[in-house]
Amino acid sequence: MLSRFAKATYYRVAGPFMALNGTLYRHFRAPRSGLQRVHLGPGQRNYIEGWINVDANMFTGKCDVWTDFTGRLPFRDRTLDAIYSHHVVEHLPDLERHFAEAYRCLKPGGTYRVGGPNGDSAIRKFMEGDAGWFSDWPEKRQSIGGRLNNFLLCRNEHLVILTESYLKELMEGVGFRSIVSCLSGSETSRPDIFAPCLSFESKDDRAAPHTILLEGTK
Ligand SMILES: C[S@@+](CC[C@H](N)C(=O)[O-])C[C@H]1O[C@@H](n2cnc3c(N)ncnc32)[C@H](O)[C@@H]1O
Repeated sequence: MLSRFAKATYYRVAGPFMALNGTLYRHFRAPRSGLQRVHLGPGQRNYIEGWINVDANMFTGKCDVWTDFTGRLPFRDRTLDAIYSHHVVEHLPDLERHFAEAYRCLKPGGTYRVGGPNGDSAIRKFMEGDAGWFSDWPEKRQSIGGRLNNFLLCRNEHLVILTESYLKELMEGVGFRSIVSCLSGSETSRPDIFAPCLSFESKDDRAAPHTILLEGTK
């Protein structure tokens, strides 16, 4: 994992170029029609063929559009059928803006499947004293508090705690409706669209899923 300093330096130096690339893509290359599915933050392993994969990391990962999606998403209004992000939005500083952007880009009837570290499960497991539920990554910690810190803050990589009520509030606030909770790795309200995504997700235990996953429709 990159140090916070290295990451901040990368975003500071590459930021203007990523912003320019995203703007140029939105104006000149972003699709205007057809079935369009977008994957935000595929990282190093999760590139989805046939989707438009967008990431700031073009060096160790693979993506189709290189940009920082902290600001505007590199797509035109009402042009996307689906957006998928998995363990990405907790890295963003302004979730309200992010969901407004996702909503802007989706066609009416389009769906956003969004998932990340499950704050509800973490808080419950912490209260139950179940240290085994948590991992000792990225820092080797034996204490349940240290492990909770790993899970929620991930060495300060994460900027927000994702709980179901909070995500719903943010999504509903920008207009998403029919918001449903899905189990990672097995459930989706739109198997016709999100089936390829399920194979990247870890199979979660329904009693205390590690990943919170919601799907909302425009
Ligand atoms: C923790 S990884 C998750 C990778 C993959 N989705 C998974 O579930 O394994 C987060 C990914 O989001 C990307 N990312 C985070 N913040 C970003 C931003 N502001 N703009 C573009 N990409 C970003 C990172 O480069 C990284 O590839």
